[in-house]
Order: sequence, then C-alpha cells, then structure tokens
Amino acid sequence: MLRNTTERWGSISKFFHWTLAGLIVLQTVLGIAAVTWSLSPVKLDLFVWHKSFGMLILLLVVARLIWRFLSPPPQFPAEMKPWEHWVAHASHALLYLLMLVLPLSGWVINSAVNIPVDLFWLVPLPAITQPNESLGAVAKTLHLVLFASLALIVVMHIAAALRHHFLLHDQILIRMLPSKRNRP
Ligand code: HEM
Ligand code: HEM
Repeated sequence: MLRNTTERWGSISKFFHWTLAGLIVLQTVLGIAAVTWSLSPVKLDLFVWHKSFGMLILLLVVARLIWRFLSPPPQFPAEMKPWEHWVAHASHALLYLLMLVLPLSGWVINSAVNIPVDLFWLVPLPAITQPNESLGAVAKTLHLVLFASLALIVVMHIAAALRHHFLLHDQILIRMLPSKRNRP
C-alpha cells in the first residue's frame, strides 16, 4: 500500500517519516561534532557532511510535503479529544516548519560567512545571501535556537507517541511502524 488511507499510513509516508527521523539524528551528531572538533581536515570534512545531509533533509521535507498534499494523512482515532487534535496538528505543523527553516538558516550561515561548499564533494551550493559578517552571526544564533526548539518538540512528539501506545492503547504508534502488523 503506497498511498495513505483514512486509517493507515502508506509506505511512502512511512519511508519519509523514518528516513527523515534518522537523518535528523545523524545531522545532530554531525553538527555537534563539527562545531566541537579541533581545527583539522576532519573538522572540515564533518562540516561538508553536515551541510550535505542538511540540504538533503531540506529536499526530502519539500518532497514529503508535496506527497502529503497528494495523499492526505489518516484521520485520528474517534476517541481523541478536540484539544488532542489541536495539539497534534500544531506540533506536526511546527515540526514541518522547523525542518524547513533550520536547514535554510544553515544555508544563510554558509552564504553570509562566505565558505563555498560542494555538497557530497560533488554539487556546488549556491549562495543565497551576500557575504555579511553580522548576518552570519545572527544566522548562527538562529540555527542554534531553531535546533533547540526542534529537539524539544521531538522529545514531546516521542513522548506523545509512547503515551498513545502504552497508556491509551490506540493504533497511533502501530500505524506509523513499518511492521507487518500494520498491513491489511
Ligand atoms: C535539519 C537540518 C539541520 C540540523 C538538525 C542542524 C543541526 C546543527 C547543530 C546541532 C549544530 C551545532 C550547534 C550549533 O552551533 O548550532 C549545527 C551547526 C552548524 N550548522 Fe547545522 N543543522 C542543519 C542543517 C544545516 C545546513 C543545511 C547547513 C548549511 C548548508 C548547516 C550549517 C551549519 C553550520 C555552518 C554550523 C556551525 C554554526 C556555528 O559555527 O555556530 N546546518 N547545525
Ligand atoms: C522515535 C522517534 C519517533 C516516533 C516514535 C515517532 C512517531 C510518530 C507517529 C506514531 C506519528 C503518526 C501520528 C499519526 O498517526 O497521526 C508521527 C507523525 C509525525 N512525525 Fe514522528 N516520530 C518520531 C520521530 C520523529 C522526528 C525526529 C520527526 C521530525 C523531526 C518527526 C516528525 C513527524 C511529523 C511531521 C509527523 C506528522 C506526519 C503528518 O501528519 O504528515 N517524527 N510520528
């Protein structure tokens, strides 16, 4: 089942969800390693990986949103209260927004501090701003703040998924898992 139905996530949505979740964890490790590594060729390589995977995340999020438009998500279980719908919609919207603006802020840093990069050592990343030291400093702070916000919401998101599974005993977590149990 490639498309979503009113009750289940299809395999394309699941692929996007778990690929992006994995890439965001990898990206966090690469970002922290790149910033804290002592100045060396390894540090420069870590930054190339970080920028490359960050731009790949941006591309995949855009593709995921297009697919979400073409194949709308399943409905929430009938037992869920209106406030729970609201919190779920708002947190998912925030996750999408952060997955877009976080890489964009990284792209602004890269352009403003004027360090050209070839993504995966192959594709030159064009600049989206003129070189500008103060803009670079603002974008660095923004990148960190956006990352902290994403980390906070992801923790709440995982806690909510576990609440649905272990306390409410509904299908919310099960239907996002790539397991056989979720197939009709
Ligand atoms: C979802 C995607 C991304 C995530 C989760 C992410 C996460 C992080 C993290 C955790 C750090 C270390 C903490 C910090 O200093 O801010 C960092 C630093 C950095 N990231 Fe990203 N990043 C993403 C995308 C990008 C992209 C697309 C670029 C550039 C094209 C980029 C460029 C940078 C740079 C230059 C730094 C060092 C900032 C500094 O020196 O303060 N990031 N990122
Ligand atoms: C262990 C980690 C994670 C678990 C257990 C998990 C679980 C889930 C579940 C069960 C859903 C489906 C909700 C429903 O059926 O209505 C979901 C949706 C979603 N998840 Fe996760 N998730 C995890 C990590 C992440 C990460 C790291 C991100 C992104 C930063 C993320 C972003 C989203 C978004 C945006 C949706 C909404 C999908 C849509 O409505 O289009 N998730 N997640």
